[in-house]
Amino acid sequence: MRVILAGATGTIASELVPRLRAAGHTVLGLTRDPARLRVPDVRPVVADVMDGDGLLAALDGVTADAVIHEATAITRTPTRHRDLYATDELREVGTRNLLRAAELVGATRFLTQSLFLGYGWGDHGPVTLTEEAPFAELTGGPFDRHLRALRSNEDQVRGAGGIALRYGLFYGPEPSTFRMMAMARKRMLPVPRPSATMHLIHIADAASATVAALERGGAGEAYNVVDDEPVDMADYIDAVAAAAGARRPLRIPGWFLHATPYLHSLLSGTRIRLSNDKARRELGWAPAYPGYRQGLATLTSTSPTN
Ligand SMILES: NC(=O)c1ccc[n+]([C@@H]2O[C@H](COP(=O)([O-])OP(=O)(O)OC[C@H]3O[C@@H](n4cnc5c(N)ncnc54)[C@H](OP(=O)(O)O)[C@@H]3O)[C@@H](O)[C@H]2O)c1
Repeated sequence: MRVILAGATGTIASELVPRLRAAGHTVLGLTRDPARLRVPDVRPVVADVMDGDGLLAALDGVTADAVIHEATAITRTPTRHRDLYATDELREVGTRNLLRAAELVGATRFLTQSLFLGYGWGDHGPVTLTEEAPFAELTGGPFDRHLRALRSNEDQVRGAGGIALRYGLFYGPEPSTFRMMAMARKRMLPVPRPSATMHLIHIADAASATVAALERGGAGEAYNVVDDEPVDMADYIDAVAAAAGARRPLRIPGWFLHATPYLHSLLSGTRIRLSNDKARRELGWAPAYPGYRQGLATLTSTSPTN
């Protein structure tokens, strides 16, 4: 397939592009700055996803079979709600513009990056959620803006017959993990008590699931792209510190993180368990790293500290 990849210079793209190429697909990489496009064999398309008319102009005369929307504006681990506002916009306006672009180029397949936290930040109890569970209702709080954007992204894409990939938290050879390792070495990565229960996905597995969904995903479907085990964030932070060759992190009460409410929710306040059975069954996919212990074993204490 000829695939337009929005977010071609991002973290997931570094794993996704080689897999798309190996599977025989041609990749057109969308970026605002072609100098950032460091993956080989990708034809750049220079456009800002937030500029709908500019995007259509940049794609004038281009044809493609599929569009994959992996554009986010996260750049660093979000600690405050406002750190996610630009990504929220990319999930509403950016998605709308990319769907128009898909129509222009004749693409019949559309995949979008979604997030398991669309089910809601907070305590989901001991139940294991499948894709049948609804995304969270708005509550009038600071998470509403992110929830509205996640819902809009999925509604737009799935409503047009596209596919939503509800990724877990990315980890592996990627910036957030390297940053956590660097913080652990400086003893600046504490473990909150109580700690959250979350779902992770190694970026190599996020990429392999994306290729599988491009080739075999059902129209209008959503897939949980998470590894096999929910993780206690205290255990995970300890394991990241160990992978970095750092001492055991300090323990702090969860309320210490109240000054950074988004981070508090990620590390202390949320408890969620998810099934990846549907992705295994319908996409013929399985994570190469079923849990973070296997995934972190691929990192060494000499990892970059960016
Ligand atoms: N599920 C998760 O846990 C999750 C999801 C996403 C990211 N993250 C994490 O967040 C950190 C940063 O991620 P990242 O490297 O992917 O960086 P990022 O800064 O979020 O950029 C992602 C991509 O989006 C593109 N993009 C952003 N705004 C755009 C726009 N208006 N028009 C066109 N393209 C646009 C960027 O392209 P250009 O700048 O080249 O235009 C870039 O290729 C990483 O540690 C990553 O793991 C985690």
